[in-house]
Amino acid sequence: MRQPLVAGNWKMNGSLASVRELLAGIKAGIDTVKVAEVAVCPPAVYIPEAQAQLAGTAIAWGGQDLSVHDSGAYTGEIAGPMLRDFDCKYVIIGHSERRTYHGESDELVARKFEAARRNGLVPIFCIGETLEERESGVTEEVVARQVDAVIDHCGVEMLGEGVIAYEPVWAIGTGKTATPEQAQEVHAFIRSRIAEKNATVAEGLRILYGGSMKPGNAAELLAKPDIDGGLIGGASLKAEDFLGICTAANG
Ligand code: 13P
Repeated sequence: MRQPLVAGNWKMNGSLASVRELLAGIKAGIDTVKVAEVAVCPPAVYIPEAQAQLAGTAIAWGGQDLSVHDSGAYTGEIAGPMLRDFDCKYVIIGHSERRTYHGESDELVARKFEAARRNGLVPIFCIGETLEERESGVTEEVVARQVDAVIDHCGVEMLGEGVIAYEPVWAIGTGKTATPEQAQEVHAFIRSRIAEKNATVAEGLRILYGGSMKPGNAAELLAKPDIDGGLIGGASLKAEDFLGICTAANG
């Protein structure tokens, strides 16, 4: 049985004051969450604040990206050991915003997956097709290519040590959620693709959905057999909405 994971991707939002308030709000309501594991990924400079407030609670925290290198002359980058220094459990890798705005390739993302595991971090590995790709009928081809890049570089067993987040690019921040059926279809495809390499890994691997997930649509998405949680953008910035999604996993 896969325990659902609901993770908040705060992206580049917040201030010290608003981050403090948001963390306090999530902490105050976490007892209503019975089933899901919960994590938040604040902007890197606020990770110490997350650690200070969340240590000893049931809520984990993580980064939004990491370097493939562990130290050195890489201005502006954050290394895996630095995230570990602040007790991060998770790190998001390969988010479509990084693939689009920073030109991250499948190969680079696979190297980031390896860097995360080398440092004891659990990668939340994002994949997903653009609207153009969906409309031209290549969704499965795209997600297969993205998943295969990690399998080829890291091996399927290492892939199984992470979490996948299927985030159709056209559903991110647009208010256009994939229907539960559309999402389930791709999640099942991803799992079957991994099962061709290792059925045990495929069965145990959590595949989250991301893209305009809200309290109002979370329950029906999470009810699908291959949807094992959510990676939440906009709705993770309000404690009430984020907790609403987390409790939707209670069933
Ligand atoms: P939204 O929930 O704002 O659509 O963002 C999803 C996302 O990109 C999470 O990583």
